[in-house]
Amino acid sequence: ALHLNDVKFFARHLRARRHNSHKGSYGNVAVIGGAPGMTGAPILAARAALHGGAGRVYVLFPDQPLPCDPCQPELMCRLAGDYELDQATLVIGPGLGDGAAARELLGSAIASGSMLLADADALNLLAAEPSLQTALAARTAATVLTPHPLEAARLLGSDIKGVQSDRLAAARTLAARLNAIVVLKGSGTVIAAPDGNIVINTTGNPALATAGTGDVLSGLCGALLAQGWPRWEAALAAVWLHGMAADVLVAEGRGPIGLTAAELIPAIRTALNRM
Ligand code: APR
Ligand code: MG
Repeated sequence: ALHLNDVKFFARHLRARRHNSHKGSYGNVAVIGGAPGMTGAPILAARAALHGGAGRVYVLFPDQPLPCDPCQPELMCRLAGDYELDQATLVIGPGLGDGAAARELLGSAIASGSMLLADADALNLLAAEPSLQTALAARTAATVLTPHPLEAARLLGSDIKGVQSDRLAAARTLAARLNAIVVLKGSGTVIAAPDGNIVINTTGNPALATAGTGDVLSGLCGALLAQGWPRWEAALAAVWLHGMAADVLVAEGRGPIGLTAAELIPAIRTALNRM
């Protein structure tokens, strides 16, 4: 397969900000997730969406109590049931949990006309319920799925060994079956489209093997979609920039040991602005 080794694959979609633009010009992202005890995951995704250039970023929690992020007061934290899902690009799944409220939210997100990125628990819920997969495949707005190998295995009814022994086939099969861009994460992330396009990313390193880096990727990709990037290029750029930021941080001596997902976020912003 083709190797994603240059910004030429997507750089033309990076637009200079117009002088007379405003936050409404850069789209809304709503991250849906954060069951009690897992609230950090959607907050990381939301911070990444904000630093990825989205105009407004919401974090929608399934339940009370409603957490907030005092270190990132720009984020608007709401109860998911109180938010009209058609107003934003949706990033669903980080820390979402697998309860009835989570299942309902996923059904509503899939049924919405919004662009949708599904990650983590949203993928597990999807794997458990074929009717959700059917609804997902029927969507016309952009859909991006970001499974790690175990999440991909659940969706395929396979196991990690089965997925990892042919990562290209796993990503290609899921993309065709679910009519979505599929980002199969891990060293050498594979990005596959329903039309058969497929690439292997070349950036990134084991500094990324730490909790929350996947949440950062999902928020970043959501931000690019919200800013009008086409689905394929949004996925390519998000994966490439996420890995590039980790490579720069390692070169600066801040990894590979002990780099945190939160530290990755401003480095992604730098990589995006240098592009
Ligand atoms: N080389 C390059 N990239 C790597 C490497 C590596 N060795 N290891 C990990 N990565 C990258 C992956 O490609 C991906 O972008 O780091 C990210 C890890 O994402 P996840 O596996 O989703 O990890 P995490 O963010 O901790 O997930 C949070 O969501 O998926 C659920 O159950 C999971 O509780 C977990 C939560
Ligand atoms: Mg994850």
